[in-house]
Amino acid sequence: MCGIVGYIGKKTNIQKVLIESLKKLEYRGYDSAGIAYVNNNKINIIKEKGKIEKLEKKIDCGVMGKIGIAHTRWATHGKANENNAHPHRTGMVTIVHNGIIENYLEIKRYLEKKGYHFKTETDSEIACALLDYIKATTKMSNLEVIKEFTNNVTGSYALGIIFDDDLDTLYATRKDSPLLIGYSENVKMIVSDVSALNSGIKNYYLLENGDIVKLTEKRVSIYDNDLHPVSRKKLNVKVDGNEVDKNGFEHFMLKEIHEESVVLESLLRKYFSNSKTFLKKMPKLSKYSRIHIVGCGSAMHAGLVGKHLFEEYANVETDVEVASEYRYKKVFYDAKTLVILVSQSGETADTIACLRKAKEDGIDTLVIVNVPTSTMAREADFVLNIEAGTEVAVATTKAYLLQVAMLILINLKMMVEREMISIDELDKYLQLFGEVPKKISEVIDLDKEYFEIAKNIYHEDNIFYIGRGIDYAISMEGSLKLKEISYIHSESYKGGELKHGTISLIEKNTKVIVVMTDCDLKSKTISNIKEIKARGADIILITTKQLDDDYDFVSKKIVLPKTNSLFTPILSIVPLQLIAYYVAKLCGCDIDKPRNLAKSVTVE
Ligand code: F6R
Repeated sequence: MCGIVGYIGKKTNIQKVLIESLKKLEYRGYDSAGIAYVNNNKINIIKEKGKIEKLEKKIDCGVMGKIGIAHTRWATHGKANENNAHPHRTGMVTIVHNGIIENYLEIKRYLEKKGYHFKTETDSEIACALLDYIKATTKMSNLEVIKEFTNNVTGSYALGIIFDDDLDTLYATRKDSPLLIGYSENVKMIVSDVSALNSGIKNYYLLENGDIVKLTEKRVSIYDNDLHPVSRKKLNVKVDGNEVDKNGFEHFMLKEIHEESVVLESLLRKYFSNSKTFLKKMPKLSKYSRIHIVGCGSAMHAGLVGKHLFEEYANVETDVEVASEYRYKKVFYDAKTLVILVSQSGETADTIACLRKAKEDGIDTLVIVNVPTSTMAREADFVLNIEAGTEVAVATTKAYLLQVAMLILINLKMMVEREMISIDELDKYLQLFGEVPKKISEVIDLDKEYFEIAKNIYHEDNIFYIGRGIDYAISMEGSLKLKEISYIHSESYKGGELKHGTISLIEKNTKVIVVMTDCDLKSKTISNIKEIKARGADIILITTKQLDDDYDFVSKKIVLPKTNSLFTPILSIVPLQLIAYYVAKLCGCDIDKPRNLAKSVTVE
């Protein structure tokens, strides 16, 4: 999604510095980019549609400067084109903006009456004009102008601002859109993601909602929304070079799948290797009789696995909902309900809204998150960090897998609290869980087989996935993985549901990927396979060693190593991730940055 960079400091090759930081935000997804910098006391703006390399071709990279702002835009209001790209400039003000100004139309009409004309279709240009209008019509200082602006807009924003009458100062503010301040002795930066900071910057402040910031080469001044100076917690930059490097893999996605066993092993070893550390790390959950799991996309799919486990194993009634629905619907919860928010980034706008809704209603919240400094991690009552490390590929793989792992651990905690298992049994489960990372590696080692399956399906227009129970939850995620990176249409269905309509789409050679790992549902799933086989479907089966047999009705079969059924979802997703990867590769897609998608969806 949109990314912000701002630099103020000692004189440098300003265009290069801005472009380098923008490149670090590329993985988040964007469709145009631009920079603005001061040279000879004048603002210069360069923008381009498409990749940052195209923008780079437009600049000479020889310009020295002390201050600049830059942006990657993921189109919301108005097409992805050069005109709508940021930075925007009106009168005395130049800005970059993340978020959505919800009352922009109202402001636009007002400003048009005051003589403003607009060149773009964006809400961001309106924000820029409003700042200019306040500045031009009042005697306010620049800080006061920003405060007044924040009092007049609704929606979400992170803004980097340069005023023409103060070209040695960078201003910023944020509400419901992430922004942080990196600082070293002679350089200060604003960025929407810590990974975009210059390598020389080792410390940063996270801004709170409503903060207004003034940065000069030597000084960081942070104010609350009443313009009282405030101090914010200092944090250290911890970006492991290894994480932003492909380490010899062709794509980040492939590298991140290959990291799955390592990150799971490290999470389990650190906190969950025995009952003592496990009980210390896990929050007390005994008071909750009902759970709501909320997330978007893959995070919601992880929640579907959680629902199945919580209900089947721990006997706890669980509802799962996509965040964009949950935030607006009538929700039935009480003091005995726990709302679990699942999010890799911790910045997904809809999921944050659900977290706040639950908190406002006095309901306890627990977040499963990969970014410990994120908004969700800061606001939830309980936080469980999955510690997957930076995930660069837009399509989540290792973070999804660890979200599922964390839900399995929560399930174990509830089973202990409900005295469904003893501490000794818990230790046994944790020991078995400790064996799963090695099994993930065994599944990944079947690489050639995934490639063969991919060769058989990559030219299709439609691919179906089916499963029952927990296997349906996994097949939902497999189908999403495939469609988001290969652009092949795919659907996931509950095995028993096909004959109520969808089976009409099955014809000779229709490719159907079947996930069958649930012993109790084996015969039912086989009946569903037979139904579609009779109509000509070409079946690819993902099953387990326990359920394997001489199935003559499948054209290709992947057999997962033996494990306790509680841990099977950790293994069964891996083949689906790799099949999607190889299909996308054979289709020649931009695997790490699929079209139209963003890594972190910070707008509604
Ligand atoms: C799909 C994918 C998305 C995210 C979703 C939620 O591969 O990555 O569906 O899962 O946008 O994002 P987070 O987890 O950051 O809240």
